Amino acid sequence: MNPSINISPNKRKRKSSQDFEESNVKRSSNAEKVAEHYNKRGNTSCAERRQSKIFYMRNFNNWTKSVLIKKYVDALNKRGVNHPVVLDLGCGKGGDILKWDKARPNHLICTDLAETSVSQCKDRYALLKKRHRNKQIFTTEFIVADSSKENLNEKVQDKQMKYDITSCQFVIHYSFESEEQATMMVHNACASLNKGRYFFGTTVNADKMIDLVGNTDDLSFGNTVFDVTFESKDLFPDFSCKYIFQLHDVVNCPEFLLKKETLVRYARNT
Ligand SMILES: C[S@@+](CC[C@H](N)C(=O)[O-])C[C@H]1O[C@@H](n2cnc3c(N)ncnc32)[C@H](O)[C@@H]1O
Repeated sequence: MNPSINISPNKRKRKSSQDFEESNVKRSSNAEKVAEHYNKRGNTSCAERRQSKIFYMRNFNNWTKSVLIKKYVDALNKRGVNHPVVLDLGCGKGGDILKWDKARPNHLICTDLAETSVSQCKDRYALLKKRHRNKQIFTTEFIVADSSKENLNEKVQDKQMKYDITSCQFVIHYSFESEEQATMMVHNACASLNKGRYFFGTTVNADKMIDLVGNTDDLSFGNTVFDVTFESKDLFPDFSCKYIFQLHDVVNCPEFLLKKETLVRYARNT
């Protein structure tokens, strides 16, 4: 999510913690809700995307990811690593596959919880390969897995392979449902990285979110495009701090607050 969007509380309907409970009462685990949500999302055409209220926000998110990818690929190139091995952790539908193509990786591992998204990611790669005709293109593998519960090393083709980059874009906060899940996610991100290589990503800004919910009379904040509803604003624990994130036509999912210092501590110890 992008918590930097301006807030116009008057345009929104207020929510209570009761609404929060009721809206989720029929579903089961949070991971199932997330997978179900992303599995239902089809591909949209360029024209449809252009019409969307979040067109510019999407462009901004893509720009941010491109800058990050370029930054770390350039750093690797300077150290003589010209064709990195990359793990795209929570790859979704493969929205970053063109960015990876520009980075000229040797091998790209794409993994996500949502089966349909992984299949769409595979299709995007096939299309890209077709576009490249006879030119050499990076190899890939596609894995459907809950990276907060399953050890990816047991699922990759080459269990000895070390990565140069783990990229985790708008995903890691889902795993902060519990300490156990966060530990597994960070383990999957870092355990197979070559020493001195890079794990980077984008996620929520917990400080900003705590600030924003603190300044409302109820448990939610947002504007005409997005809405965040917490279960409580008395405590913001390091794990299991659940909120519902709704983004115009795109996301309606349980997520978990992730504090930067908690993530840094975990990554450091992995
Ligand atoms: C906002 S989308 C981002 C997709 C992609 N990284 C991008 O930037 O376009 C979040 C993705 O995280 C995936 N996800 C959430 N929890 C996950 C988990 N525990 N393991 C693997 N993927 C997960 C969802 O299925 C979804 O595809």
